[in-house]
Amino acid sequence: MIGVFDSGVGGLSVLREVRMHLPGEPLLYVADSGHAPYGDRSTRYIEARATAIVEFLVGAGARAIVIACNTATVVAAKSLRSWCPVPIIAMEPAIKPAVALTRSGVVGVLATRRTLESPSVSRLCDLHGHEARILLQPCPGLVDRVEGGDLQGAVTRGLLQSYLDPLLSAGADTLVLGCTHYPFLAPMIRELAGPDVSIVDPSGAVARELSRRLGEAVARDAPLADLRDVPPAPWRTGTERFFTSGPLPAARELMGALWGREIELSALPLVRA
Ligand code: SIN
Repeated sequence: MIGVFDSGVGGLSVLREVRMHLPGEPLLYVADSGHAPYGDRSTRYIEARATAIVEFLVGAGARAIVIACNTATVVAAKSLRSWCPVPIIAMEPAIKPAVALTRSGVVGVLATRRTLESPSVSRLCDLHGHEARILLQPCPGLVDRVEGGDLQGAVTRGLLQSYLDPLLSAGADTLVLGCTHYPFLAPMIRELAGPDVSIVDPSGAVARELSRRLGEAVARDAPLADLRDVPPAPWRTGTERFFTSGPLPAARELMGALWGREIELSALPLVRA
């Protein structure tokens, strides 16, 4: 079983890719919607939430974990990797592929302020900033719009327009979706940005990295050897189970709609943080 978690429902965009790459794998998804958005939380808070969720996923028998949240990645991936007995695959803002793709030489990165102010984004900008102009656009409020299920309304459109305008006016022809909630807004982004603008979503690359890590680990008999310590769970292949810390009936409806069918959703049994 692979465990995937996010501050909320956005990571379902990554889960979709994981399902495509690993069709027979049981998947367990945790939406920490009761605590979203992480972008507004302190480092300590995000680390505590991520730790409790990863402990839950490992206890449930995960053989690898995907942090399907850019904000949790930049805040907590390093500390999670220091103790977690199974491989942790995390998000990376797709700045390198976007720089390779741009024809105008201007790339826009849409993400939370917390992600954009992180050392990993600064490092990528330092590495690739001489090849293209990289414009970082924080997008407060967008995660809440997706968590509220408003993928097409006027408020969401207005917010998106205000974030896209400066990027498009500066000549950006390539946009990076640096938050896993944003792929659910891709149709509106496409409509507002026009057909000549490329939209880069790193979810597929994350799912490929997961498959590669699992394949490598199996081939070298490590680090999946650690799995001997993890109790087996009664997972069926190709199934998904979903947990949320948000209100159940609303979450069932929204997550089912985003996933594309009815889902088996339970309350997340966590008390920490
Ligand atoms: C958030 O919860 O604030 C954003 C999630 C993300 O960065 O992917």
